[in-house]
Amino acid sequence: MKISVFGTGYVGLVTGACLADVGHDVVCMDVDEAKIEGLKQGKLPIYEPGLDAIVERNTKEGRLHFTTSPEEAVAHGSVQFIAVGTPPDEDGSADLQYVLAVAESIARHMDDYKVIVNKSTVPVGTADKVRDKVRSVLAERNADIPFAVVSNPEFLKEGDAVNDFMKPDRIIIGTDDAEAEKLMRRLYAPFNRNHERTIFMDIRSAELTKYAANAMLATKISFMNELANLAERLGADIEQVRQGIGSDPRIGYHFIYPGCGYGGSCFPKDVKALARTAREVGYVPELLDAVEAVNETQKQRLFHKIANHFGGVDNLRGRTIALWGLAFKPNTDDMREAPSRTLMEALWQAGARVQAYDPVAMDECRRIYGERDDLVLCEDKYSALNNADVLAICTEWRTFRAPDFEEMKQRLKTPVIFDGRNIYDPEQLREDGWKYYAIGRGE
Ligand code: UGA
Repeated sequence: MKISVFGTGYVGLVTGACLADVGHDVVCMDVDEAKIEGLKQGKLPIYEPGLDAIVERNTKEGRLHFTTSPEEAVAHGSVQFIAVGTPPDEDGSADLQYVLAVAESIARHMDDYKVIVNKSTVPVGTADKVRDKVRSVLAERNADIPFAVVSNPEFLKEGDAVNDFMKPDRIIIGTDDAEAEKLMRRLYAPFNRNHERTIFMDIRSAELTKYAANAMLATKISFMNELANLAERLGADIEQVRQGIGSDPRIGYHFIYPGCGYGGSCFPKDVKALARTAREVGYVPELLDAVEAVNETQKQRLFHKIANHFGGVDNLRGRTIALWGLAFKPNTDDMREAPSRTLMEALWQAGARVQAYDPVAMDECRRIYGERDDLVLCEDKYSALNNADVLAICTEWRTFRAPDFEEMKQRLKTPVIFDGRNIYDPEQLREDGWKYYAIGRGE
């Protein structure tokens, strides 16, 4: 099938490349010329394991093309994916200008039936706005061309996006158009070979499903973080509690890991956007507000623990804190809303220096913060410890899991670890002479 994808960010590129990989003929369009030029030469604008090989293979075999021309993209696909960004604007609602600009562009250039698919995470009701936009442009053109708008939210995890796309738990398709349903069924048939994963529903329910899924996952995390804070005060160990409750299949083991808060481009944005949508329709979203508030507090936890350790914020001036992990989670270079940023910014505010190491997010960190005296980006995890007072960990990269603790002790001024991801065994570390602060595991 012929497919066009607007937007070559995370979602667009993974969607385009994976659809090409199962045999579809895909054109990816982006207004960013440098990005498209790079992609034509096999240079990916994002770090995502496995994606470069898929892009290279499909480009070489002629199933994946890149263009900056909207005319070309619109002419190509019978299905047109909108996968552009929806950044939160100041009040937390999703900014739809890019989505609507693509809708307009499709309407300007189309001359036969198109299925227009919203892949970007967009508030409930956006499909209606896209439909209105297309209708009004077609009316301007005096063109009576049929089209359908479909909601097909993505459920990709950064770092595991290719796998999530190729072996989805579910494919959600919201549509009220029989022809569109037929085309979407054909499009996703290669992903449903062993058993049917597609769930068809009405458009608004599909739009809400996306937010419901992320809000539910964020709720699980905030719940566990609240319990972790409680466990600290009660002398209980949240990791034992986690295993104790996870064994109940109604609760399950997934997404109940306490830590220094959730980050990324999805949970923080989507929880806020859903709360905002709720208010717009006159509903006070008490639980969603709390999920967000608990997370904001949790992102400050490591800083408060560090400040307490030194006897107050005032005593942080002139200290050096080693930091392992900058990305909001392992296997990505993404630092959007990362807990590491909250920690670094609070430390800088208090007059401390940071010596940081991350396996892949160093360039991203440099891009965000530039050169500054109170930030040193180190070559490897051990050199980040040299002459630092203590170590803080914000991301559970595999390389941090079993380090040489003796080597670490020699480099740090004091054997103290603040672990925001609970990756070590507290007893073992204490036995080995460390002061070990974790989340929800006593002090
Ligand atoms: C999330 C969802 O998991 C995807 O299903 C969804 O498609 C995506 O958002 C999206 O809306 O596009 P992602 O943001 O890539 O994916 O990352 P997650 O793996 O979900 O992690 C989010 C944050 O939660 C990370 O900061 C992670 O450290 C934290 N987390 C996760 C915890 O603190 N505890 C847990 O138990 C799990």
